[in-house]
Amino acid sequence: MFSQRIEQALTIRQEKGLSRQLNVLEGGNQPMFCQGSRQYINFSSNDYLGMATEPELIQAWKEGLDKYGAGSGASPLVTGFSRAHAELEQTLCSWLGYDRAILFNSGFSANQAVLFSLLEKGDLLVQDKLNHASLMEAGMLSPANMKRFRHNDPEHLNTQLSQPALVVTEGVFSMDGDTSPLKNIKQICDKQNSWLMVDDAHGIGVLGEEGKGSCCAEGIKPQLLIVTFGKGFGLSGAAVLCDKPTGDYLTQFARHHVYSTAMPPAQAYALKKAANMIQSQQWRRDRLAELQSAYNDTLSGLEGFVSTPTPIKPFICGDASHALSMADNLKSHGFWATAIRPPTVPNGSARIRITLTANHSPEQVKALAEAIVQFSEEHNRES
Ligand SMILES: Cc1ncc(COP(=O)(O)O)c(C=O)c1O
Repeated sequence: MFSQRIEQALTIRQEKGLSRQLNVLEGGNQPMFCQGSRQYINFSSNDYLGMATEPELIQAWKEGLDKYGAGSGASPLVTGFSRAHAELEQTLCSWLGYDRAILFNSGFSANQAVLFSLLEKGDLLVQDKLNHASLMEAGMLSPANMKRFRHNDPEHLNTQLSQPALVVTEGVFSMDGDTSPLKNIKQICDKQNSWLMVDDAHGIGVLGEEGKGSCCAEGIKPQLLIVTFGKGFGLSGAAVLCDKPTGDYLTQFARHHVYSTAMPPAQAYALKKAANMIQSQQWRRDRLAELQSAYNDTLSGLEGFVSTPTPIKPFICGDASHALSMADNLKSHGFWATAIRPPTVPNGSARIRITLTANHSPEQVKALAEAIVQFSEEHNRES
């Protein structure tokens, strides 16, 4: 039975041209990497601030290993919670202005843990339609009644709030690179006695004063803030920021926290270093602003170009095969920019998802943009 199911699902995916594959990068996440004999400039990494290859940060992880050994050895409530974890939590709290920061091994698990532990039967959960799969899946599996509001549409959110609810949105949307109207959304939540949870996976480190993220940029403080460490931090893991009672509650009841081995203390040690670097190294955000100008200067006006206030630059192709041929063409010019296809994005909106990082140079971004212009012109001539 299972073999047949597996074979059928794989065949359908293949026939729709939607199969994905793992790519082995010899040197790991580098600004330039080799595959086979070819070298590519990496325009698909979420390491927006260019932290993952930063010697200072690598050195911190090594120091953490020397101080604390390799793994944490247990879940946090047993013996897995070290001084390094406690200091990371404290650093996040003072930087972002919360009482508590509860650590998780991934953003996916942090999102699931919050929704599963907080929601009960009869509750209302209202989510932006384009929220990440981890949020949508948890919402659907939770006992709450889940509704969606139209993407970034506070008026529509307002109509969905038939009772006090948990409202969940992202600070920056990962496939579109647009930002959420958080100020409006927070006002509506306050008026409707609802709590707001913001997943700022793509905004933390990148937006706001000292890289405090989307909420700081919009001047709001949601009841629950999710920050993830796999993108702007250049590492991995996540934290939920909240007030003390909520933190105490999650410590007791968030199953992905309670029943999962704590992240290695050396990683927590490196994450604290990353948080300090993000706060003090404004030049990384300035570099991103410069790169965004270079990208916009060459591409604005071209069909498929989308202007975004973040380093995420979707270039909309429409159908999946067009996106794939554009990605292949860019590869032939030495640029790695991944084609994103349904079901990750809605049908008819397949795209190239380009991400700029502080490790790129304006010249590299200009060269990528020129290759996009050239491919689009050739494609238009042919069709
Ligand atoms: C908005 C959002 N939330 C959560 C996640 C999951 O985070 P992690 O990769 O740490 O599991 C991602 C991405 O991968 C994301 O884009």
